[in-house]
Amino acid sequence: MTVSDEAVQAAVDPAVDNWLDAGWSDRELRADVSVGLSSTPKELPPKWFYDDLGSELFDEITRLDEYYPTRREREILEREADAIAAASEADCIAELGSGTSTKTRILLDAFAAAGQLRRYVPFDNSAATLRAAAREVADAYPGLAVRGVVGDFEHHLGHLPLDDVDAPTGALPRAPAMVMLLGGTVGNFSPARRPAFLDAVAGAMQTGDTFLLGTDLVKDAGRLVAAYDDAAGVTARFNLNVLSVLNRRLGADFDLDAFAHEAVFDAGNEWIEMRLRSLRTQTVHIPALEMTVDFVAGERMRTEISAKFRPERVRAELGAAGLVVQRMWTDAEGDYALTLARRVRRT
Ligand code: SAH
Ligand code: AVI
Repeated sequence: MTVSDEAVQAAVDPAVDNWLDAGWSDRELRADVSVGLSSTPKELPPKWFYDDLGSELFDEITRLDEYYPTRREREILEREADAIAAASEADCIAELGSGTSTKTRILLDAFAAAGQLRRYVPFDNSAATLRAAAREVADAYPGLAVRGVVGDFEHHLGHLPLDDVDAPTGALPRAPAMVMLLGGTVGNFSPARRPAFLDAVAGAMQTGDTFLLGTDLVKDAGRLVAAYDDAAGVTARFNLNVLSVLNRRLGADFDLDAFAHEAVFDAGNEWIEMRLRSLRTQTVHIPALEMTVDFVAGERMRTEISAKFRPERVRAELGAAGLVVQRMWTDAEGDYALTLARRVRRT
């Protein structure tokens, strides 16, 4: 390989750490499915939506008329990217659940224009999507150090590479980093699990680092339900795709035509709940788990919650993790919020 070939290779394939070897991910999937399908009511965690097809379907969802969160978040980012760069003072952006990193470019452009862009760390459990996104960002921003991480943000935040290991020893303390979780993904955690997750995020950060969090806000139930049950049926395909993941990875025999997509707003919990409803009484076999699962006609299995927030809840939950809110921006309609919080020293 010549020197210039190596340069091309480096530009095309940025470094990617992989914490999800096939064994780890299979064990995690088996544990989630065997616990979730033995529970009453049955449940599957949303992280298994995102195989290659699931990631593509999510991308399609973000362009649907009914699915306003992506548009609203983009609107805020376009308006406030310079303010976010200035307030964070960061030269490293680490993005959890980065997906295709599309909206991220609004921030990368603003940070670059402010002369404070050095490092980008996309982190996602969807390996192919992560690798493609890391490559595209590296190609589009020459000089930016891109270090991708294929990992599970419920388990691997201790490996978030915010520090530049190539920095000379004895170098000055690093500039602040900004960790972010966009898209409203924090709403996919149950309220019971959010505190531990936010603690782990804060634990991966140094004092002075910031956390940029996107949250969908409570609103009219009709608009919420439409966003999760679109007319073209893309969200239905996204929801049903989790059954294909179990068929492929665990040898299960789910019949996708025997389940129907449902999205309801639970007003008491202020969350959207996506479910798969069994259209008939049926038995599903999951050979990898030596498990058979019975469904009665009409039985509902929960596949996702998507919590909708009020600003005071965002502030309180971040504060409890030692992340003090500095700024909170909403779009003109008040649909969506972006919050920048700073990690303070905890006593
Ligand atoms: N940030 C993007 C994508 C949001 S979709 C946006 O705002 O549009 C949620 C992303 O989180 C997907 O790319 C999915 O693969 C990833 N994800 C879901 N659960 C995860 C987990 N436990 N660990 C790491 N990534 C996860
Ligand atoms: C990734 N996450 C924030 C999306 C949401 O809105 O909860 C996933 C999604 N589910 C259905 N549509 C989109």
